[in-house]
Amino acid sequence: MLDGGDEELKDTMRNSKPVKRFIVIDKTVHELYGSKVSQYFDERGVIYKILPLTTTEENKSMELVTKILEEVHHLGIDRRSEPIIALGGGVCLDVVGLAASLYRRRTPYIRVPTTLLSYVDASVGAKTGVNFAGGKNKLGSYVPPVATFLDSSFFQTLPLRQISNGFAEMLKMALMKHLGLFELLEVNGSKLLHAKLQPSKTCSGSEMEDSTAASMRIAIETMLEELAPNLWEDDLDRLVDFGHLISPELEMKVLPALLHGEAVNIDMSFMVYVAQQKGLLTKDEKDRIIQCMLGLELPVWHQECSLALVQKSLRERLKHSAGSVRMPLPTGLGRAEIFHDMIADDVICQAFQKWTEELSSFGNK
Ligand SMILES: NC(=O)c1ccc[n+]([C@@H]2O[C@H](COP(=O)([O-])OP(=O)(O)OC[C@H]3O[C@@H](n4cnc5c(N)ncnc54)[C@H](O)[C@@H]3O)[C@@H](O)[C@H]2O)c1
Repeated sequence: MLDGGDEELKDTMRNSKPVKRFIVIDKTVHELYGSKVSQYFDERGVIYKILPLTTTEENKSMELVTKILEEVHHLGIDRRSEPIIALGGGVCLDVVGLAASLYRRRTPYIRVPTTLLSYVDASVGAKTGVNFAGGKNKLGSYVPPVATFLDSSFFQTLPLRQISNGFAEMLKMALMKHLGLFELLEVNGSKLLHAKLQPSKTCSGSEMEDSTAASMRIAIETMLEELAPNLWEDDLDRLVDFGHLISPELEMKVLPALLHGEAVNIDMSFMVYVAQQKGLLTKDEKDRIIQCMLGLELPVWHQECSLALVQKSLRERLKHSAGSVRMPLPTGLGRAEIFHDMIADDVICQAFQKWTEELSSFGNK
């Protein structure tokens, strides 16, 4: 994209004259790609300001939003024709999205995700947000970007742990909706992980190149199928909530020990045991899912994910989901249903016991 191959990004700059852009960039991404970004805009004669920011889960807060807003205000952009550009991982995209949605009540913004997680998940949908009062994404808005530009070559500089992290959200979609994606991750997951989803580096044959492209395409398509008809979340029955019932509480409790996708995976791993306990999954299906997670080098258990935390999270869920727990659970490989009634406490307790017996040896990450 930064080599100038992206016509659409150029088009968004042709529409206004003189072209002015405000770019918020994750600090690490700036260190790695900052000079290329400057060169890109210099070559096109754009007036621009780049704001590098440390965007981490710990400082994903209103202070960061205010900081961005002060700089936007100082530069003085036209809210009708000069979109703010966010270049970074999910934290950067969420914070910039919220700032843009607040500035003069709604200023357009563009997402350029640079992590796998933000590429397959935070790039899609309308949600923006920051953490507040110890709660994950407790403040936010539903304002979609005017465009999202996808370039997987950014993954080359990501540590492997960050790639695993992104695979968790891909696996979520596989488990909820797509047997083919699950089988692809089951068979090729480890290779795709170590090749950082770069087509040319996976292997000499075209088969792996297809797996790379197919895995990301299916993950995004299935995500879009779920999010697009329900952008404002009027329908609270959401398959994409799988892995997100216990994980917010866990992620915030152990911050910064677990990455977002890692916490999501621990939640999914436990829920797979709940599904087996309810007779929705066979032992063989449960084992295949856990093996797939391990192949993707994702954590499947965490000592801070206690039975008390699980029960508290489910009670919270009930409180905030209009009196129904709305729990997505796999009912086979690649298919799922939403369960409205609170799962019986003995099912949760037995699943928890089995989960801990079988997986605690995999320990904490
Ligand atoms: N809005 C949504 O719909 C949505 C969906 C999913 C997740 N999220 C949010 O996304 C956040 C997680 O996003 P994330 O996993 O991208 O984390 P992140 O934004 O914290 O980025 C992870 C790390 O990778 C670094 N980094 C980013 N790009 C890089 C690159 N190309 N090379 C090297 N290092 C790079 C960053 O500096 C950071 O240290 C969470 O806060 C979550 O709530 C939002």
